[in-house]
Amino acid sequence: MCLPCLRLLKFKMTNNTILVTGGAGYIGSHTVVALAEAGYRPVIIDDFSNSQQSVLDGLKQILGYEVPCVVHDCNDPATLLDLFQRENVRGVIHFAAFKAVGESMAEPLKYYRNNLGSLITLLEVMLETGVTDLIFSSSCTVYGEPDSLPVVETMPVKPAASVYGNTKQVGEEILRDMAAAGKPVKIISLRYFNPIGAHPSALIGELPLGVPNNLVPYITQTAAGIREQLSVFGDDYPTPDGSCIRDYIHVMDLAEAHVAALQALGQPGPGSHYDVFNIGTGLGHSVLELVRTFENLSGRRLNYRIGPRRAGDITAVYADATKAWEQLGWSAKRSLREALEDAWRWQQQLEKK
Ligand code: UD1
Repeated sequence: MCLPCLRLLKFKMTNNTILVTGGAGYIGSHTVVALAEAGYRPVIIDDFSNSQQSVLDGLKQILGYEVPCVVHDCNDPATLLDLFQRENVRGVIHFAAFKAVGESMAEPLKYYRNNLGSLITLLEVMLETGVTDLIFSSSCTVYGEPDSLPVVETMPVKPAASVYGNTKQVGEEILRDMAAAGKPVKIISLRYFNPIGAHPSALIGELPLGVPNNLVPYITQTAAGIREQLSVFGDDYPTPDGSCIRDYIHVMDLAEAHVAALQALGQPGPGSHYDVFNIGTGLGHSVLELVRTFENLSGRRLNYRIGPRRAGDITAVYADATKAWEQLGWSAKRSLREALEDAWRWQQQLEKK
């Protein structure tokens, strides 16, 4: 047998099944594509509480086959145990969580039970089945209003401004404690900055339920005439144009960071490991810059007005992503314009449906 054939055979015999909780969601679905492209076998568990079945059709069209998907809440140990054993799971990427900041303040128990309960359940099943590798979705929200920019992983975590933010902080602490206790786990928390855009095929993208909270879906829906007017939340911040600054990262770049993190964990085996990485572009862009870039690429004028500040917004945050480059070999490749073009293409094809 030739060498490439041998390598392929060896790869096929290697256990490469990755469980993606929340794999039908926005970041989850794009990560499923990145995993498949890197030769992994993704298996989804999703309860579709904040995602739609049509995502699975999009994935099928992109990948050319149906991605296995269990429709269930991942906070159920029996279902998880069965899934781990049946599918011979080798590692997990844990996206399944609620993420609406406002709702988290009104329904704290719902958020703590779902976001932290499912993490604990997952860890218990991992210990029971001997699965060691886990990638956890954290957020730059853990930095709060940073003392200096760009933010580095060694900077202090600030008291969370929301219940949602606190579930990410406590989630990170649980994982750190597991490794500190010497449990047989290898875990990486990825602190996401602001994911935007869609797969360039426009077959999957962001599907916000109702009125979007986030900026880019609000921009594209306003341009499409679904929303009447975009409100820019404040132009009196101490930034060059007065609007807030964020680190907007293409969702496919973010998806690929998960693959890099998984590969960095290496082969499953004994030992405990925990680490945390910023996943951003390293570039800060203001709300008004996004508006102008979008107008420029779409050729449409956005109906927007300057509104009051939104409670809880911080002035500026962007990543120092050097650690991810040095230790994971990952960096963002796609530009802001590319991300906005993909978001707009996605929005336009939604209109055609
Ligand atoms: C929020 C979450 C963050 C989460 C991210 C997901 C908080 C405090 N943080 O980040 O944890 O990971 O979403 O993408 O909620 N803006 C407008 N008009 C709009 C909407 C937004 O001007 O209609 C502005 C906001 O003031 C902000 C920027 O756009 O300056 C980005 O807002 P958004 O997309 O909601 O993300 P974050 O609040 O940064």
